[in-house]
Amino acid sequence: MAEERDDLAQLTSAEADEIERAAEAALRPRRLAEFVGQRVVRDQLSLVLEAALARRRPPDHVLLAGGPGLGKTTLAMIVASEVGAALRLTSGPAIQHAGDLAAILSSVQENDVLFIDEIHRLARPAEEMLYLAMEDFRVDVVVGKGAGATAIPLALPPFTVVGATTRAGLLPAPLRDRFGFTGYLDFYEVAELEQVLERSARLLRAELTPAAGAEIASRSRGTPRIANRLLRRVQDWAQVRGSGVADVDAARAALEVFEVDERGLDRLDRGVLRALCVRFRGGPVGLGTLAVAVGEEPETVETVAEPFLVREGLIARTPRGRVATAEAWAHLGLEPPAPPDTLFS
Ligand SMILES: Nc1ncnc2c1ncn2[C@@H]1O[C@H](COP(=O)(O)OP(=O)(O)OP(=O)(O)O)[C@@H](O)[C@H]1O
Ligand SMILES: [Mg+2]
Repeated sequence: MAEERDDLAQLTSAEADEIERAAEAALRPRRLAEFVGQRVVRDQLSLVLEAALARRRPPDHVLLAGGPGLGKTTLAMIVASEVGAALRLTSGPAIQHAGDLAAILSSVQENDVLFIDEIHRLARPAEEMLYLAMEDFRVDVVVGKGAGATAIPLALPPFTVVGATTRAGLLPAPLRDRFGFTGYLDFYEVAELEQVLERSARLLRAELTPAAGAEIASRSRGTPRIANRLLRRVQDWAQVRGSGVADVDAARAALEVFEVDERGLDRLDRGVLRALCVRFRGGPVGLGTLAVAVGEEPETVETVAEPFLVREGLIARTPRGRVATAEAWAHLGLEPPAPPDTLFS
């Protein structure tokens, strides 16, 4: 049962696991022109890249900030392919020691794009080494141990760091300052997600009707990753139970099976909302109490359900705890309780 719930919660989570990442690779736009939406970032980036090409120099270091599934990795790969550079991938958590980063940096070739995912999770000493590499194209390789250790400076060829982070606020200012350009990725409009879906359906050779695309897009929480995932489930439904065509009936039926409602809320989200409204009469209630009421870990409620519910204006966080908004009651089809003062008048 618990496992089943995990599967369902997974469907609308913006995070991806290993298997999904493989499926995603096939749907990744390769060029900036194919990248849907994010107009501002796209314009800025195309300027940075074109200028670099004209100067025949590697582009400035680029930082991409935004929530999971919004296209950071995709854009990092696009940066490399737009300037015809080789892409090297690593991530903050993969670099445990400064030595790990030194090894990567000392093998960087001229013009390479070094993509550092989850850059906010770099260890401190590695971070300091990266400052130097980004600014002076130099790395100090430490040889030997203890008192006999010496640092040998090694010059690096010009290259580009593309960093990605879901938590730009966690990045220390000195690191942030070393990026010549920061692109902030926002949630997508429904119309943009429709375009993403149309493109994905074409690549997956799925027959998706425009109405079904619109239906899926409006339940995808502004996130291309979720849109693509829901598309695959709708396609499953169409093949197994429907006519093979992903039409609006297939979309609605599939999303009902997977308990994703008209606004993109899943079972966990609705559980939280219902507990807040019905059990705690709209709150305020503390996170821990709310989590116990839905049988989840507080962390799951806080990181998986809450950000979306807050963004949708369904719950609000106050110093005294979580409260349901008028919209929350409306979404559940419930009457909000009368305000306390009218009870006594
Ligand atoms: N603008 C876009 N146009 C088309 N497809 C997109 C766009 N943005 C993201 N996608 C698709 O969404 C999926 C997830 O994107 P991506 O892996 O780039 O997200 P991310 O921001 O790196 O997420 P994470 O924080 O989890 O690493 C990919 O399969 C990609 O094809
Ligand atoms: Mg990524």
